Order: sequence, then C-alpha cells, then structure tokens
Amino acid sequence: MSLKVVNHPLIQHKLTIMRQTETGSKDFRQLLDEISLLLGYEVTRDLPVKDVIIETPMCEMTGKALAGKKLAIVPILRAGLGMVNGLVDLIPAAKVGHIGLYRDHDTHKPVFYYCKLPEDIENRIVIVCDPMLATGGSASDAINMLKEKGCASIKLMCLVAAPEGVAKIEADHPDVDIFTAALDEKLNEDAYIVPGLGDAGDRIFGTK
Ligand code: PRP
Ligand code: URA
Repeated sequence: MSLKVVNHPLIQHKLTIMRQTETGSKDFRQLLDEISLLLGYEVTRDLPVKDVIIETPMCEMTGKALAGKKLAIVPILRAGLGMVNGLVDLIPAAKVGHIGLYRDHDTHKPVFYYCKLPEDIENRIVIVCDPMLATGGSASDAINMLKEKGCASIKLMCLVAAPEGVAKIEADHPDVDIFTAALDEKLNEDAYIVPGLGDAGDRIFGTK
C-alpha cells in the first residue's frame, strides 16, 4: 500500500475554505468538485499509455493514448457522491457504480444498504471515492465488496484521512493505494476526524 498526500497549493487552499464552519453547502460542493478533479489527476498518473500513429494538419506523428483497463468510479453514499462530478469531468468514459453505507451512530461501524455496480466491474480499474476516511470501516467494507465481485485493481481517493483509517486500509487491503488531500491528527470519541471538517454528507447536502 502507498499513501499519497496530494498537498498541491491549490488543493490546500480550497480545503482550508471547506474546513471552515461558515462555508455553506454551495461553496462546499463547488470546492469538492474542484479538489476531486485535481486529486483525480494524481490518482490516474500511472495509467498505462500506448503509441498511436495519427495525422496532424502538418504531418504524421506518434502520439500517446490510454491503454489497458477502463475505469470505474465508485462513490460510497452519500458523501462520496460529492467527488463524482470532478472525476467524471476528468474521465468522461468512466462508468459509475454506487455503494451505500452509513456509519451506525453508536458503534461507528458501517451498515450496508445499497450496491449497484457496472456489469464488467471486474475488468476495470476502480477508484473508490469518499471524502472522509475516519475509522476506515466504510472504505474497507466497500473494497471488500468490490474484491468479492472480482476487482483486482482498486484505488481509494479521499479528501481528509485520519491515521486510524489509513492503518485499517493498510492492514485490510495492502494492495490498495490511498490518495488524500490531507492526513489529519486523530479521531475524537465520536470517531469524527480532528480537526477535520465535520460531517461531510451533511455539509454537501445541507442536511444539518
Ligand atoms: C461518512 C463518510 C464515510 C464514513 C467514514 O459517511 O462519508 O463514508 O462516514 O467513516 P469511517 O471511516 O469511520 O467508516 P456517513 O456514515 O456519515 O454517511 P453519509 O455519507 O450518508 O453522511
Ligand atoms: N464522517 C464524516 O463525515 N466526518 C468525519 O469526521 C468522520 C466520519
């Protein structure tokens, strides 16, 4: 497993605005779109390319084109939905699956409620996205589901990660690389990330 903290200045600047209590849903969503695109650039950095011979208006040349497996984007509902637009802007041909999990308020364990994936998901590179990697339970369960469907190439993209969540993914899924905009300090007693940004789903959808 590798952990890549993508600390590009634009990402840091946008994330700082997102973290602030006074930032409302409209700006929060817009900034998450923008950061997701920027993170997606790093997540896709090692995609294989092949030579293709093309004609420019001037001459023939050998260009590069994506080769190998196609991509799928799999947000963990709800908050993962906020990362889909930015990724789809970057990878318009990607298919999108959905995994529904919510964290039980008392146990902090993920509870499953929905799964709909592209039929050929096992043949695709899968980018699992969820802004918050807290205990890591939700992401780990989502990755388990994808592996049960035969997926062998999975990357995890999040916005803010806690050390506890990174450690869980490392232990459960050493083959999965994690990309995050920030690695925060710790979890609090309610398993929320500190300093974090609060409840990502509520902030995206304005439900609190
Ligand atoms: C949040 C977040 C992750 C999960 C992270 O979702 O979007 O899915 O918690 O916590 P974990 O790493 O400890 O599992 P939540 O359960 O609040 O659901 P929501 O996205 O529908 O708001
Ligand atoms: N889910 C969130 O939305 N935020 C956290 O800090 C932890 C879990």
